[in-house]
Amino acid sequence: MNLNTLININKKKFDLKFKKLLNNKLDTSILSKAMYYGSINGGKRIRPFLVMESAKIAKISSNDAFIIASSIECIHSYSLIHDDLPSMDDDDYRRGKLSTHKKFNEATAILAGDALHDLAFELISGNLNDKNCISKIKLINYLSLCIGHKGLALGQALDLDFENKKLSKNKILDMYSRKTGKLFEFSFSAPFILKDKSKADIQFAKEYGMLFGLIFQVIDDLIDEIGTFKKIGKTPGKDAKQGKSTLLGLIGERQVINLCKDKLNNFANKYKRRLNKNRILLYLLEFGIRRLN
Ligand code: IPE
Ligand code: IPE
Ligand code: MG
Ligand code: MG
Ligand code: MG
Repeated sequence: MNLNTLININKKKFDLKFKKLLNNKLDTSILSKAMYYGSINGGKRIRPFLVMESAKIAKISSNDAFIIASSIECIHSYSLIHDDLPSMDDDDYRRGKLSTHKKFNEATAILAGDALHDLAFELISGNLNDKNCISKIKLINYLSLCIGHKGLALGQALDLDFENKKLSKNKILDMYSRKTGKLFEFSFSAPFILKDKSKADIQFAKEYGMLFGLIFQVIDDLIDEIGTFKKIGKTPGKDAKQGKSTLLGLIGERQVINLCKDKLNNFANKYKRRLNKNRILLYLLEFGIRRLN
């Protein structure tokens, strides 16, 4: 079976359960409706796929994997709702439909993002079956670090600050590692952390997630340039229009692809033995470079 099919099967399974979970948690308030709108339908659910693959290796239960994946999608959806706001990337469309602030209003979208962020912590702290409180606290602590003032939030602040400036390759990569890499790092390493795996195992998982995330953002920029609304469900060509500092803008398409391939090869050499045991991890990175939506 090819990876696209596997990812889609996982997406369908995840979406069914995630809808149920949100229906249980949310109600008919305007805030709940906006939270539901911003997190259901249309997402590729790539992060849940990574969680699932990692959960198999770390051997955590499928329910714990689902709760971790759900909390990550809550964080991811919050970040997209806020990313689309007029004061950020100002995008009217997301996942092929109106962005949350266009469908509702700006204040509701801001609050829906806030509440999805909080729901992620509600899920991890309250809905994991795992009885080990210490690893649960470690997980919560690590998620906070990945998305806060040194992680996703800082990355988003840098992304905006870097508009219409000429930045070095390393500065841009650092910004990518925070705005996108860190949540992927969390996605792949969370099952290892919950299971209290060895330091070396956790380090491997963190590096894998970060690499996947970096490649994912580099290719997202490429897709922004060459994609169509129909394919990507968000407004194409926005990065150039908004003067975003992207790696693509700095070094061009051929070089960004080469950079991704070099990073993949370095990682593959460093972790030959582990990757040989789990070939799908390498295929997934290669898929990340080839993807077109
Ligand atoms: C978009 O993420 C934002 C980036 C980090 C590049 P996705 O491409 O995973 O968005 P959805 O969830 O599939 O809509
Ligand atoms: C998004 O980067 C990163 C986060 C939402 C944290 P982009 O601004 O490139 O994402 P899209 O292209 O709007 O999905
Ligand atoms: Mg953005
Ligand atoms: Mg954006
Ligand atoms: Mg983008």
